[in-house]
Amino acid sequence: MLRPGSKGSEGAAVDEPRKLKIGIIGCGVGILHLQGFAENPRADVVAIAGLDQDRCHDLAKQFNVPRIYREYQELIADPDVEAVTVAVPNILHVPVALAALEAGKHVMVEKPLAPTAEEGQRIIDAAREANRVLGVVFNRRGRQDVQLVKREVERGALGEVYHARAFWMRRSGIPGLGTWFTSKGMAGGGPLIDLGIHVLDLALWVLGNPVARRVSAATYAELGPQGRGQWQGGRFKIVPGETYEVEDFATAFIRFDGGLTLQLDASWAAYTGHGDDFGLALLGDNGGAEIHARDYAQTGTLRFFGEIDGVPTVTEPRLLERHGHGEVFRGFIESVLDGTPMSPSGEEGLDRVRLIQAIYRSAELGREVEVEAPDSPAAATEGGSSA
Ligand SMILES: NC(=O)c1ccc[n+]([C@@H]2O[C@H](COP(=O)([O-])OP(=O)(O)OC[C@H]3O[C@@H](n4cnc5c(N)ncnc54)[C@H](O)[C@@H]3O)[C@@H](O)[C@H]2O)c1
Repeated sequence: MLRPGSKGSEGAAVDEPRKLKIGIIGCGVGILHLQGFAENPRADVVAIAGLDQDRCHDLAKQFNVPRIYREYQELIADPDVEAVTVAVPNILHVPVALAALEAGKHVMVEKPLAPTAEEGQRIIDAAREANRVLGVVFNRRGRQDVQLVKREVERGALGEVYHARAFWMRRSGIPGLGTWFTSKGMAGGGPLIDLGIHVLDLALWVLGNPVARRVSAATYAELGPQGRGQWQGGRFKIVPGETYEVEDFATAFIRFDGGLTLQLDASWAAYTGHGDDFGLALLGDNGGAEIHARDYAQTGTLRFFGEIDGVPTVTEPRLLERHGHGEVFRGFIESVLDGTPMSPSGEEGLDRVRLIQAIYRSAELGREVEVEAPDSPAAATEGGSSA
């Protein structure tokens, strides 16, 4: 593995850290990428690209980015760029990641890794071939509540976890009726692949990447096709006349090796008391844990359940706020410069897409389906692979 950091930085001041030169492709959620890198002394964002040049110029000015490109190919051709983050519509994750890897860049792709597992596998193969670090932006892993739950699971505090519930429910949050988000071809799906994949990843990551075997699921498109459920506040535009091709609610029941089960729900729009809430609940035979983040709250979101001498207990840790993108990008930079294992890895990204695909397949067929057996289970590579 080529490690740009391992060669040292000739001529640099002794205490100046070796910086990774990064290019960001996409100026929407790209702002969170810039914020995340801004807090890292080892990151140097040297270029940004996007078709919406006004937005890109604003961001470049705000974050002092020296070079602005339009098409992703232009940024990838910049020899100064060592690593690329991919924040473009889902359908473009594949060509952009493949082009970047082929050009010898290390790559961090926004979730989902790809719209389908077959395409995701191509990215994994390309990263292996190019011997470059590949990561997926599951930024919610950076939350302190999530990390505490993972630690408690790992040290056995909950005992054997036998059931989990993960959800991301929006009351009225379709991100742009008629945009790429609501096109099956461009996004690969609706709230399940957009939001559900975040909490699916959280559940599987804290539980040590159990292997899924069977899925029973249903999807619904009830509000979107009526033109209801658009994101409030005008953040996302509506493209009139375009059809609504994806689900607006998905529900799935997943069975894993060893008897673990997971209930997963995701909505962009539904008549529910939720605003824009996500969460994770774990039931163990020695304790439980619940994360409930209302409207992206980062504090006051976690409770552990146990007992003392037969008396039920509730523990509510005092939490700190963190920048999720900053957290996962720190791991990416360390992986590239120091050779530490990449987490969230490309394989984990592929595992989640494979499961999402099985959920859609089950919903389409109206029955339980087998989850395709992975060639290399994410379980075997958790935190142990750079590709
Ligand atoms: N991790 C998170 O919290 C999070 C949040 C929002 C979105 N996302 C993901 O980020 C990705 C982008 O979502 P978004 O909300 O920013 O979408 P968006 O539509 O707001 O922005 C997409 C960006 O891609 C650019 N783009 C499109 N084609 C391009 C090309 N050929 N060359 C260069 N740039 C091109 C557009 O100009 C735009 O700047 C999606 O995969 C989405 O799932 C992740």
